[in-house]
Amino acid sequence: MKANIVVLPGDGIGPEVAAAGVAVLRQVAERFGHEFTFTEHAIGGDAIDRFGDPLPPATRDALLACDAILLGAVGGPKWSDPSAKVRPEQGLLAMRKLLGVFANIRPLKLHPRTAELSPLKPERTKGVDLVFVRELTGGIYFGAKTRSEDDATDECRYSVAEVERVVRHAFELARSRKKKVTSVDKANVLETSRLWRSVATRVAADYPDVELEHQLVDSMAMHLLTRPADYDVIVTENMFGDILTDEASVLAGSLGLSPSASVGGPGAGVYEPIHGSAPDIAGQALANPLGTILSAAMLLRHSLGLSDEAETIEAAVEDVLSQANLTRDLGGTATTHAVTRAVLDAVQAKAEAA
Ligand code: NAD
Ligand code: IPM
Ligand code: MN
Repeated sequence: MKANIVVLPGDGIGPEVAAAGVAVLRQVAERFGHEFTFTEHAIGGDAIDRFGDPLPPATRDALLACDAILLGAVGGPKWSDPSAKVRPEQGLLAMRKLLGVFANIRPLKLHPRTAELSPLKPERTKGVDLVFVRELTGGIYFGAKTRSEDDATDECRYSVAEVERVVRHAFELARSRKKKVTSVDKANVLETSRLWRSVATRVAADYPDVELEHQLVDSMAMHLLTRPADYDVIVTENMFGDILTDEASVLAGSLGLSPSASVGGPGAGVYEPIHGSAPDIAGQALANPLGTILSAAMLLRHSLGLSDEAETIEAAVEDVLSQANLTRDLGGTATTHAVTRAVLDAVQAKAEAA
């Protein structure tokens, strides 16, 4: 198959991990006889420096014309002055809105070796296999903002249609899994959450085979640490999903392991690790590339329909997690490049065995 993939390296460790994802995709293309074209474009702080715009027109045009998008990360102290008019993160949000990718899928699976690095005791994390469906193009991220000398506002708004489409996405996903949806909100305080809860309850009637439970976000943050194995699909609004997924990621040992897929729009999906640009380790070859490599696997599965190839990458990552020297966040001493090399070797071995 032929595919046109846009690569957005971004800032900090973004270019380091994006290069790892591209290397693995190139290897898969070669082994499985596909023709992938990779075109790099600017986003975030890098795009501000070069074009004065965190999502320049050339990047927008490429996003609208491609089959899939692989992103590193954006942001960093260089562009974080609170009085700055333009910020790297605006590029990311504008891209999500432009593509209409309202469903952000963030799976969390544990591997026996890295589970030992989890801050939780092994008996608490045993059997964890869950997936977040985070609403990605609405809520407080995209509401009107005001700022004066002595106050500021961020509006949080959700329409029934915005809630319904993402909740349906969660129910469809649950049907292919353990058939349980946990809808997370703050319905004891927020009007948007009461709307969210009523829509989720109504949608659930169309899925009698799937169990729905409602959970308030504050106690959810606690339950994720006390009984994470009880969850299957967790659906929530934009900001709650942002926060809970970083929290949940460490159950697997490191934020650097978590991939994501942003889908649901009419065009290309966006694939990126859930972590940020990690300015504290940028440029030192310390970044864990596995979250991005697993995002590349999601790209193959969700945007290109190549599930055998996706499974090959996931199995290769499993092997690397079991056997290889890992990056520092996972207790190892390996560089980004060495871990990427180990994945490439494992992909090669699997492709030859197949
Ligand atoms: P972060 O995710 O960049 O880093 C948090 C911590 O996790 C740091 O200690 C970092 O070293 C570590 N870490 C993250 N990814 C890692 C990896 N792959 N391997 C090893 N360690 C890793 O969060 P932050 O420091 O709060 O944010 C830094 C910048 O990133 C901010 O400008 C923020 O806006 C941006 N950000 C961007 C995205 C994105 O592009 N999707 C996501 C989150 C944050
Ligand atoms: C993420 C990031 C972004 C978000 C920021 C950088 C805008 O934290 O992708 O999780 O909050 O969505
Ligand atoms: Mn985040």
